[in-house]
Amino acid sequence: MARTAQQERTARQFLGDLREEIRTHAGVGHSILGRMKTDPRSRADFQVLAGQHFPLVGNFTRYMELLLLRAPSSEAKCWLAKVLVDEYGERSEGQDHSEHYRKFMHAAGHKLGEEDTVPLHPEVVHFIREHYRICTEEPFLVGLGALGPGHEWSIPAMFELAVAGLRKAGFAESEIEYWTMHMDQDQDHGAWLEEALVGYCETPQQREQVRKGALLSLDARERFWWGVTDKIAAATTRRSVPGAGATSDEGQLTLRQLRAKWRIEPRLVEE
Ligand SMILES: [Fe+2]
Ligand SMILES: [Fe+2]
Repeated sequence: MARTAQQERTARQFLGDLREEIRTHAGVGHSILGRMKTDPRSRADFQVLAGQHFPLVGNFTRYMELLLLRAPSSEAKCWLAKVLVDEYGERSEGQDHSEHYRKFMHAAGHKLGEEDTVPLHPEVVHFIREHYRICTEEPFLVGLGALGPGHEWSIPAMFELAVAGLRKAGFAESEIEYWTMHMDQDQDHGAWLEEALVGYCETPQQREQVRKGALLSLDARERFWWGVTDKIAAATTRRSVPGAGATSDEGQLTLRQLRAKWRIEPRLVEE
C-alpha cells in the first residue's frame, strides 16, 4: 500500500514524540538505574539483579516469534525476522542472547545450570505474563508497540545506566558483553522496528494502539525494577542479619517451575 508523503510525515512525527515519551518514562529511568553513578551497587546486588533479569532475556524471543505469526504483511514480518536473527546469535559469534547472558550470570556468582532456579519476585512473573498476553491477545500493533518502542527503544538507555553501575562494581568488560553489545544492537533493532511501524501509524487508532503497547510494556518494566529493588533490599537484610527469620521469597516460583507450568502454543481456533 503506497503511503503519501504526508502520511509518512505524520507517522514519523508521532514516532519521534513517542521516543521522547519513552526516554522520560519511569520504567526506563527507574531510580535503581538512575542512581547507579551516585549510589553504586555491589557485585552481590548485581548477582540478585542478574537472577531476576534472566527470565526476561530468556522469554523475549518467544514474544517476538508469537508476534511474527500475527504480522499482517511480509514487510512487517521481514523487520521482525531481522531482529530475531540477531537475537538467535547472528552478530554475537553464533551465541544467542540468553547464552551470552549466562556468561554474565556466572561472572555475577550464579552456578552453571542453575540460572533458572532463582525464586522470582512476583513483578518479574507479572512482566513475562503481561508480555505473553500482549503478544497473543492484544491487536498486533499493541504487540509491536510493546516490543519495538517498549523494548528496543528503551534498552539502550536503561543499559547505559546499568553498564555504568556494572563497571563501578568492578566487572571486567568481557563479563558484561551482554549489556554493552545491546547498547549497539538495539539501536539497530529499534530502527528496524521503526521501519515496520512507520507503515502502520497512519490513523489515530493505529497510533493509539502502538502507544498503548509501549506504555503497557514500560509500566510492567517499572514494576519489574521495583521488584528487583525489593529483592536487593531483602538480600542485603539477610546478609547483615544472618538467620533473620522467614525469607521474603517463600512461595515464589522459579523460571524452571514456570516453564513446567506454562504452555505457550499457537493453535487453530474455529468459530
Ligand atoms: Fe537481545
Ligand atoms: Fe534487541
